[in-house]
Amino acid sequence: MNRVNIACVGAGYWGKNLVRVFHHLPEVHLSQVCDADPQIRATIQQQYPEIATGADYDLLLADESIDAVVIAVPAVHHYALARKALKKGKHVYIEKPMTLNSTDAEHLVELAEEHDRVLMVGHLLEYHPAVQMLRRLIESGDLGDLYYLYAQRVNLGIVRKDENALWSLAPHDISVILHLLGQMPDAVSARGECYLQPGIEDVVFANLHFADGKMAQLQLSWLDPHRIRRLTVVGSRKMVVFDDVESTEKVRIYDKSAERPEYDSYGDSISLRFGDVVIPRLEMAEPLKLECQHFAECVRKGQTPISDGRDGLRVVQVLEAAQVSLRQNGAPVQIG
Ligand SMILES: NC(=O)c1ccc[n+]([C@@H]2O[C@H](COP(=O)([O-])OP(=O)(O)OC[C@H]3O[C@@H](n4cnc5c(N)ncnc54)[C@H](O)[C@@H]3O)[C@@H](O)[C@H]2O)c1
Repeated sequence: MNRVNIACVGAGYWGKNLVRVFHHLPEVHLSQVCDADPQIRATIQQQYPEIATGADYDLLLADESIDAVVIAVPAVHHYALARKALKKGKHVYIEKPMTLNSTDAEHLVELAEEHDRVLMVGHLLEYHPAVQMLRRLIESGDLGDLYYLYAQRVNLGIVRKDENALWSLAPHDISVILHLLGQMPDAVSARGECYLQPGIEDVVFANLHFADGKMAQLQLSWLDPHRIRRLTVVGSRKMVVFDDVESTEKVRIYDKSAERPEYDSYGDSISLRFGDVVIPRLEMAEPLKLECQHFAECVRKGQTPISDGRDGLRVVQVLEAAQVSLRQNGAPVQIG
């Protein structure tokens, strides 16, 4: 395959970024954009006269020259659109969250396998150079034993009507946490409150517990005075902070720890170590560009993406458990 012929479905707030990036990739021919909204179509037509626009998804899928479909419509439509595309033999990139329940996610994974198609989910942060650096730091043992992590994703931001802050914001952090730890939590609990719209949580605090004692905490809100996009990882030898709001110094490694002598069981013998703070040089590239390049490469070479359908399914399983816990006032919900 030379260039991958791609069609984007949904060119709203996020989809327009995918259109921009795919349009500029030399290995991709972005030939069509499908959007239900005539105004969005007119804007795309004006910006990219060479791209065909339309509103008929079935017509798009009937076009045999299209290799892959990029789906960036509201999550409630993900399953139906992805299912149709896979059944028509198209490779599929689908925005996060992959689906709104794990049964649908499992079905998409099965369909992709059955039709031997690439299925990739837009877990953008898995392609972020800072997250890749974090993973290397964890895998190399540089941080020592990993104790716990916490992610904060808050601001005064887009208030969604058809999903709560958990489903809208947490997929990013959950995907990173599962990517870094390489395991699923055994239990999830979550508490949240609906202040702006009935039944839609604006603020959610979720806790993921892992069988080996690791723990991850998520703070999610679109109703907050601060704009924070931060992940803190605490290990037995070092601690790391990834701050995505920082323009250049995104990762800080704190050579700090609390050390316990191996054969001493007395609490007062724990010593605190305060070492240097290192800001490593990060080879930055736009994560969205890296993600889109990865999709094109997987389609061209028939490879399995980092954020494949199974990864999407795992994130949906965690979200689903957290949602059950939300409705049960934070009661822990077992996974698996
Ligand atoms: N990766 C990220 O960082 C990120 C950020 C924001 C949103 N998203 C995801 O992107 C997706 C879209 O979110 P958004 O904020 O762009 O929403 P949006 O409402 O701004 O845009 C959705 C677009 O899809 C179009 N659309 C809806 N149903 C359609 C259909 N059946 N056929 C054709 N067009 C249709 C709408 O007309 C609209 O233009 C969601 O899954 C969201 O979770 C991802």
